Amino acid sequence: MKTYHSAELRTMFQKFFQDHGHAMISGASVIPENDPTVLFTTAGMHPLVPYLMGQKHPAGTRLTDVQKCIRTGDIEDVGDASHCTFFEMLGNWSLGDYFKQEMIPWSWEFLTSEKYLGLPKEKLAFSVFAGDEDCPRDEESAQLWRDCGALPDHIFFLPKENNWWGPAGLTGPCGPDTEMFIITDKEPCGPDCSPACSCGRYLEIWNDVFMQYNKQQDGTFVPLSQKNVDTGMGLERTICVLNGKKSVYETDLFERILAKIAELSGKTYGSDEETTKAFRIISDHMRTSTFIMGDDRGVSPANVDQGYVLRRLIRRAVRYGMAIGMPEGFTGEIAKVIIDQYQDVYPELKRNEGFVLEQLSLEEGRFAKTLRQGEKEFDKFYNNVKNTKALLESILAAEDSVALAQELAQTKKLRPSPDMMPIIEAAKAGDKDALAAAVNARMENLSVMDGRSAFKLYDTFGFPIEMTMELAAEKGLTVDEAAFAERFKQHQATSQAGSEQRFKGGLADHSAQTARLHTATHLLHAALRKVLGDEVAQKGSNITAERLRFDFSFGRKMTAEEIAEVEKLVNEAIQAAATVTCNEMTVAEAKEQGAIGLFESKYGEQVKVYTMGQFSKEICGGPHAVNTGDLKSFKIKKEESSSAGVRRIKAVIGTKAEDESETL
Ligand code: ALA
Repeated sequence: MKTYHSAELRTMFQKFFQDHGHAMISGASVIPENDPTVLFTTAGMHPLVPYLMGQKHPAGTRLTDVQKCIRTGDIEDVGDASHCTFFEMLGNWSLGDYFKQEMIPWSWEFLTSEKYLGLPKEKLAFSVFAGDEDCPRDEESAQLWRDCGALPDHIFFLPKENNWWGPAGLTGPCGPDTEMFIITDKEPCGPDCSPACSCGRYLEIWNDVFMQYNKQQDGTFVPLSQKNVDTGMGLERTICVLNGKKSVYETDLFERILAKIAELSGKTYGSDEETTKAFRIISDHMRTSTFIMGDDRGVSPANVDQGYVLRRLIRRAVRYGMAIGMPEGFTGEIAKVIIDQYQDVYPELKRNEGFVLEQLSLEEGRFAKTLRQGEKEFDKFYNNVKNTKALLESILAAEDSVALAQELAQTKKLRPSPDMMPIIEAAKAGDKDALAAAVNARMENLSVMDGRSAFKLYDTFGFPIEMTMELAAEKGLTVDEAAFAERFKQHQATSQAGSEQRFKGGLADHSAQTARLHTATHLLHAALRKVLGDEVAQKGSNITAERLRFDFSFGRKMTAEEIAEVEKLVNEAIQAAATVTCNEMTVAEAKEQGAIGLFESKYGEQVKVYTMGQFSKEICGGPHAVNTGDLKSFKIKKEESSSAGVRRIKAVIGTKAEDESETL
């Protein structure tokens, strides 16, 4: 087989689809716009949901792009050969245009033609949907593959679990898919070996989804008004498989990053398991963090939402960095390599480099402080252990141990905690032997750090359990890992319940309110520029069912007068009850008309511009309220610092804006 460089595959894919009548569009931000149901963009189709549902896309009905995707569900698995929290997805779409009959032959051509991947058909396998009560068996796709020349016994019918994609959230567009696999040299794992098993014989490289259903809240599948195609090819994984590499980390995409880690740590990737794992975790987490902060909607580390995931990624990278001897401040050095490597494909990284480096340095500093605090807390715990031990030893050494123990119990030096009660009781009973046994038992317990204390260090001080274990070992103690794990599991179950809650409260059932808050965001943006000047530019936006949040560049705290003035302007725009209109034009035309917004699209590309009376004109993907009057009223609840040079406003509309007692 031929070998490929990632840049070559990226270009080849897009060129292929451009040659087949597809318009190349810019990938979207990794921070979803106006979709409170998910933290990050997880697939190429995600930003295209409105168009898969029937809205007209300005670039037409055949699209192709490369999308930055983040999936952080399995952060703890990163370090093995295949898990990455960031990846690029090559994709193409038919928005109610072509369907299976065109897509499958195109996929075949791309995979097998010498002009493209040139893969032999013996090396290829395909899975198609086996059918169930929601959707019939996909004989058509199987026949299309056979007509192309696929080997009949390389086609597998699999159930929904394997051959169904979407929706991206709980509801939305989805459908049966057909997946493409490379067959490796691994022997079949048994008579039933198929692309459904994870033995490693079949490695997926591409997925064609035939999106023709809309999954409802009640779990039913309703046919969409149009039949779409959504395909996705993961760049990292495909490059890895095509080049016969054992792990994505051994592809060209990680070469420079791993080299930098080696240079800074003086260690060698592959020298032993622990070092290899650390190299992988650092490179993966730094890549994801750099893309989260280097986005035009970039966020900073925080304790909630995207900022929380970002914080975890950076701190985990720092921790593994410390383990292999990386110098202080190394995250910035790695980020520079990543930005340099990717800037041609993702110019926003370079634009936001200053922000990325500043945030990394701040977060490394904060983490160092956390570690110091955690160490102090650990020392407190250890001193307590030491004092108790000395006390118990003094009892054992005393001539009249019972008398001493009684006295210590009386003066409360032996505290009546559950751990100490057997000792106190034996002393009270005057039983010397029982007392010695109870003291010895307690001494033994003291050399194990209990789960509650270990978890407190983790939960309250953010102190990683691995560090607790290291410190404990230094002092000759062990940690009750099972008890820690138990508490950790309970904690995770609670926070998961929290995020499911968040999911339920998402876009699906609050779409009208989301659109109104989004319109309010535009009015706020325009008002801020009128009151504070053109220095104000959007740095981030986030909408939940309750409120909007808007981050913007501005160097100082706003005064009370300025806040009142901005509120007044927005409320006047609401009272003016202007119709919200949308026009499509090129980026250059939008700029000429004075539209504001993120000019992240490529030159010449068609974009949507939303106008609200004379008040606001902004490039944006929607959705919006029909009329500014729908917002009823507007109130700023909070104005605060978000990061250096960036302010954050939280605001509400409608009845919430009228209710003074509410706080966010
Ligand atoms: N949306 C499909 C996927 O992510 C293409 O695999």
